[in-house]
Amino acid sequence: MAKVDSASQTLQKIHAKWMAKCTCKLRKTATRAVPGSGSSAADIVFIGEAPGKKEDLTGLPFVGAAGKFLDEMLATVKLDRKDVYITSIVKYRPPNNRDPFPEEIRSCAGWLRDELTFIQPKLIVFLGRHAMHQFFPDLKISEVHGTHIEQKIPNFPTEHFFALYHPAAALYNGSMRELLFSDFKKIPSILRKLK
Ligand code: URA
Repeated sequence: MAKVDSASQTLQKIHAKWMAKCTCKLRKTATRAVPGSGSSAADIVFIGEAPGKKEDLTGLPFVGAAGKFLDEMLATVKLDRKDVYITSIVKYRPPNNRDPFPEEIRSCAGWLRDELTFIQPKLIVFLGRHAMHQFFPDLKISEVHGTHIEQKIPNFPTEHFFALYHPAAALYNGSMRELLFSDFKKIPSILRKLK
């Protein structure tokens, strides 16, 4: 327990350091930063795109409608937010929820890298193509969603990845919802193989 406590303190220090030094231009329009949240000892890290309105107001990732759907999917594989770590490639809300610009993604990249290097997850799950493209710019989410991607990246803490469509894509689309549930259900068996 003490080990986990000091690990979560270290993560809080990482967030405090980046809140002070992040040069992302979205800081001018966002209410606050939305750092990652969850277990510092997580085997799985979920990476989304950027905070929306509710995240911007609360400072917590995935607490809006897409986050509720993520919670539902986690529950189907008997996981809870406290078992995993959830973050986004960009830590500040883009105005009107537009897609983040490459420069905004670049300026938050060190923050994400520090989170991942510290947590050392066994598996990284991309929530949507923007998150996946930061690591695998040439992959198409329509081709690789729901598959185990194994790739060594120099000086990077994991070589196991899994891509899902962004949960927001399923909010008004029943077939996308079913697809996301069925992809999500593959996560536990991948994780078991990695342990
Ligand atoms: N979508 C994301 O990608 N991240 C959030 O934190 C919320 C919605």
